[in-house]
Amino acid sequence: MLRMKMLSTVALAVALAAGMAWAGGGAGGGGAQGAGGGGQGGGGGPGGRGRGAAVPAGLGQAMQDMGRMLQALSTNNAAADFTNTQPTLRNIAQFERDVAICKMQNPPTVAGEDAAKSAASFRSKMQIVMRTLVDLEDHVNDKKADDVKKDLTKLTDTMKEGHTEFHVGG
Ligand code: HEM
Repeated sequence: MLRMKMLSTVALAVALAAGMAWAGGGAGGGGAQGAGGGGQGGGGGPGGRGRGAAVPAGLGQAMQDMGRMLQALSTNNAAADFTNTQPTLRNIAQFERDVAICKMQNPPTVAGEDAAKSAASFRSKMQIVMRTLVDLEDHVNDKKADDVKKDLTKLTDTMKEGHTEFHVGG
């Protein structure tokens, strides 16, 4: 009986842990935060001190989350809507986190290319993404709509360049 109880306690703990793991942007997972505060991941509600959105485990997951953040910031010109900047600033912070996660992984390689050269190029492009995000954060904070739009264009351009170089998406 005691053994059964212990087993079910362990099962519950495992289930909870699994629920906390990367949810790939599913409900309550690493989702972007919308203007209404929906899609908030983990325990960190707006203004809360929770754990925040689920943490991507590797390069592919971090990139996918970056894709979700870029979409959340760009759709309906969300980042340039200064009526409620809190969700925007949070999405930018999550984006920056994802870039840092990418930089902590083994860099990707390109078949037939020198690995060290590819690694250096990957790092320098991820640095451009990070700098642009820091600029974007300032521009949202300072409510500079034109600069916000330029930053979003730069993010998209850098993504396209990187994906072409590393043969992502065909
Ligand atoms: C705003 C910046 C970026 C965004 C939003 C972004 C987004 C994404 C997304 C959504 C994927 C998944 C694509 C798929 O599964 O088909 C991906 C994969 C990838 N991206 Fe990016 N990306 C960005 C910048 C970059 C840059 C600058 C580089 C290279 C310098 C890069 C290299 C890669 C690589 C190598 C993968 C494949 C990762 C894997 O599956 O292991 N990305 N990215």
